[in-house]
Amino acid sequence: MRTQVGIVGAGPAGLLLSHLLALRGIESVVVEIRSRDYCEARQRAGVLEDSSVRLLREAGLAGRLDREGLEHGGIYLQFAGERRHIDFRELTGGRTVTVYAQTEVVKDLIAKRVAAGGAVHFEVADTVVDHLDTDRPVLSYASADGARHEVVCDAIAGCDGFHGIGRPAIPADLLTVREREYPYAWLGILADVPPSTDELIYSHHPRGFALHSLRSPTLSRLYLQVDPDESIGNWPDERIWDELQSRFELPGWDLKQGPVLDKGITPMRSFVSAPMRYGRLFLAGDAAHIVPPTGAKGLNLALADVAVLAPALDRLLHGDPALADAYSATCLNRVWRATHFSWWMTTMLHRTPGADPMEAELQLAQLRYVTTSRAAATSLAENYTGFPALAADPGTAD
Ligand code: FAD
Ligand code: DHB
Repeated sequence: MRTQVGIVGAGPAGLLLSHLLALRGIESVVVEIRSRDYCEARQRAGVLEDSSVRLLREAGLAGRLDREGLEHGGIYLQFAGERRHIDFRELTGGRTVTVYAQTEVVKDLIAKRVAAGGAVHFEVADTVVDHLDTDRPVLSYASADGARHEVVCDAIAGCDGFHGIGRPAIPADLLTVREREYPYAWLGILADVPPSTDELIYSHHPRGFALHSLRSPTLSRLYLQVDPDESIGNWPDERIWDELQSRFELPGWDLKQGPVLDKGITPMRSFVSAPMRYGRLFLAGDAAHIVPPTGAKGLNLALADVAVLAPALDRLLHGDPALADAYSATCLNRVWRATHFSWWMTTMLHRTPGADPMEAELQLAQLRYVTTSRAAATSLAENYTGFPALAADPGTAD
């Protein structure tokens, strides 16, 4: 078999890349180890930056997003018994974020690719990428019926997440890896209850961090800081709600409770592997970098990578390697900004196990500063809504 771009992984990065390439008349084959149902149900991120929304809109993918997405003009930071608002619109000249679940982005992308007759193969096994240092790299896999397939490509995109086969296919001595594990994890629930807030609440509390997010006017998404080795079995729904009540408690405000539809624990890690390219293999999204979720950046970074990659591959396939050569550095600039912001939000808001009282005072000093200084609040707002703005990336210029 022959295609122009072989894509490993049908997450947001792989699917959007396939669509952006199709808009440019470039054919691709996407292979995914999971089933379509699994990909469409996996609970993950929920917040889209301003520039991610614009990117999806410009790519003709925002029909449902524009109808169902909830635009938010700020967030609340809660600490020391007070809840303070950070007004993104006012601080950034009108920029906002949109609450629209990753599951919905993935559903929209799969529907679009399938309707366009795009090749998206689910439930494959034993994916291998080879001949990466030639201009005919090969993607091979076993399809759901067990048959083995070999696809000769012009380029391959490793969009296969943190545990995929893309990054390990690059000789280890060519990669520089920077990594930090955080001494806590997030327990997340999806609850069948209207949100108790109009915008997200990030709460710093002596018992640990908590986040009140949402998915729709009738669905709430809530997170609790827990120990990194915590087992979900130790957290019956009642204990989760009790803990959430304590960490969000505020006189005159109530946290509404409802049936828990989904729950899980996510480890917290910063990870950056560079460069994001080896020969004709290009990594995008979680395959190359992971951020702790506190800044809501993981999904947005994945989308931003492929917005740079699509025009770079277009040019490469037409004989001009300049954007492909700049791909890694262009993306890593944004990745490191988001890595710093996510680390900063994470360490400001979480209780550090075993930390001395000095650290807690420093966190409170930072929280007071960010909620009282216009300069500090603007920095948070600019990063949260997306910095640098996607259109400013040189790699996206046509
Ligand atoms: P993924 O979405 O991971 O997609 C990669 C795809 O590749 C998967 O479908 C996988 O099945 C497939 N794949 C893997 N190996 C192979 C193979 N060998 N062959 C073929 N296919 C393969 N971010 C936030 O901002 N907020 C959050 O609350 C948040 N929560 C998260 C919770 C969890 C449990 C995880 C894992 C991540 C979370 N993230 C969150 C991060 C965010 O969801 C990711 O950054 C985003 O999914 C990255 O998209 P991606 O397309 O790069 O990778
Ligand atoms: C969500 C996740 C985040 O990591 C975050 O910072 C904000 C919202 C969410 O899943 O809704």
